[in-house]
Amino acid sequence: MTKSWSKSDWRAKPRVQMPDYPDQAALNGVEAQLAKYPPLVFAGEARRLRKELAAAGEGRAFLLQGGDCAESFAEFSADNIRDTFRIMLQMAVVLTYGAKVPVIKVGRMAGQFAKPRSAPTEVIGGVEYPSYRGDIINGFDATMEARQPDPGRMLQAYTQAAASLNLLRAFSTGGFADIHRVHSWTLGFAEHDKAERYRELSNRISDALDFMAAAGVTSDTANELARVDFYTSHEALLLEYEEALCRVDSITGQNIAGSGHMIWIGDRTRQPDGAHVEFCRGVLNPIGLKCGPSTTAEDLKVLMAKLNPANEAGRLTLIARFGAGKVGDHLPRLIKAVQEEGANVVWSCDPMHGNTIKSSTGYKTRPFDSVLREVREFFAIHKAEGTVPGGVHFEMTGKDVTECTGGLRAVTDEDLSDRYHTACDPRLNASQSLELAFLVAEELTARREEQRRVAM
Ligand code: PEP
Ligand code: CO
Repeated sequence: MTKSWSKSDWRAKPRVQMPDYPDQAALNGVEAQLAKYPPLVFAGEARRLRKELAAAGEGRAFLLQGGDCAESFAEFSADNIRDTFRIMLQMAVVLTYGAKVPVIKVGRMAGQFAKPRSAPTEVIGGVEYPSYRGDIINGFDATMEARQPDPGRMLQAYTQAAASLNLLRAFSTGGFADIHRVHSWTLGFAEHDKAERYRELSNRISDALDFMAAAGVTSDTANELARVDFYTSHEALLLEYEEALCRVDSITGQNIAGSGHMIWIGDRTRQPDGAHVEFCRGVLNPIGLKCGPSTTAEDLKVLMAKLNPANEAGRLTLIARFGAGKVGDHLPRLIKAVQEEGANVVWSCDPMHGNTIKSSTGYKTRPFDSVLREVREFFAIHKAEGTVPGGVHFEMTGKDVTECTGGLRAVTDEDLSDRYHTACDPRLNASQSLELAFLVAEELTARREEQRRVAM
């Protein structure tokens, strides 16, 4: 992007949320090894995603980004990947039907391993341990040994990311994602109201496909319907890993983060002069920037200038995560900052990270009502401001977990202990994810109808 940049410049900048590895020689060895491995993604793919995101910024496409809060080594399985992929396909169908625009599918997958934490240590059973920072850094078990940062974990994360991406590519193009199979994606779902709604929608889609086939739709188009583009993303938190996988695109000479198609900067690591912004500004990938209540208009302006100096459409996605009831206090002032700069951005809504609470039973949870409310507020403000709601960002899983309370098949505080599997933050389960997709689809339909009314 910019000439005076090198992939290791971040090392001279203040860093936060990164581990101090006790064994420097071991760290150097891992970095050298990773630097020789193939990248996981290629520049052409990242560019295509950027182009698609540019359309989302103008309301001609919609971004659906979702997946685990933290991927873990223990929960790594083909079934888990398939289930998350499948629920994202279902959500995308619901959204496409409502919005009548292409839905860009981006998983928090194949690299989402490193976690920022609110405190460097945590007390478990009366003992103070270093905080768990994600499987790419240290172990979840409450022992001093497990909590020691281990650079060797980066190699395991790379291997898991490569295998995950391989499976995702196979699912995307090998027949699983063929829209003609829209009904089969529901398999394994318990009966509930949204499942019924989904079935009705699938019937309508099947009818439309039958009609197109009867009308002689060309085989080229038919091939398009048999596959999807599915992209990967993660928070670019562990910069040693990011730097080691950074590559030069042989066609343009630009740098690419080879670790995933899109990377984002977290709310805790977005210091304009910090290491994370320094690394991300130099790679060609689409960049996400989390914007929380403490994001000032001034900071946002500096960050936009640093991360997208050429003001390229699709380069920068602002992921708003304020919390239900607070969107009105913050989103308008940041929208104003964007407008004052004439900046091209995609506005996305993360209704998860501003809505985390401790349940009465001691679990970290998110009330589903707050999640829905933040999404509604996000759409309402964009409507009032005349700006484009370009996407959503969720922590979710295709599994039937009990981590967020509420939803149609209500999960209560008492239920949380049943199937609470997350390695970090609470995720929406499959049923809650689908319910949310229907809500977003309704908002998008209303927006489309409003635009049509205005245009008449
Ligand atoms: C996350 O997306 O998992 C995360 C930590 O988000 P944020 O930086 O917005 O808190
Ligand atoms: Co999270």
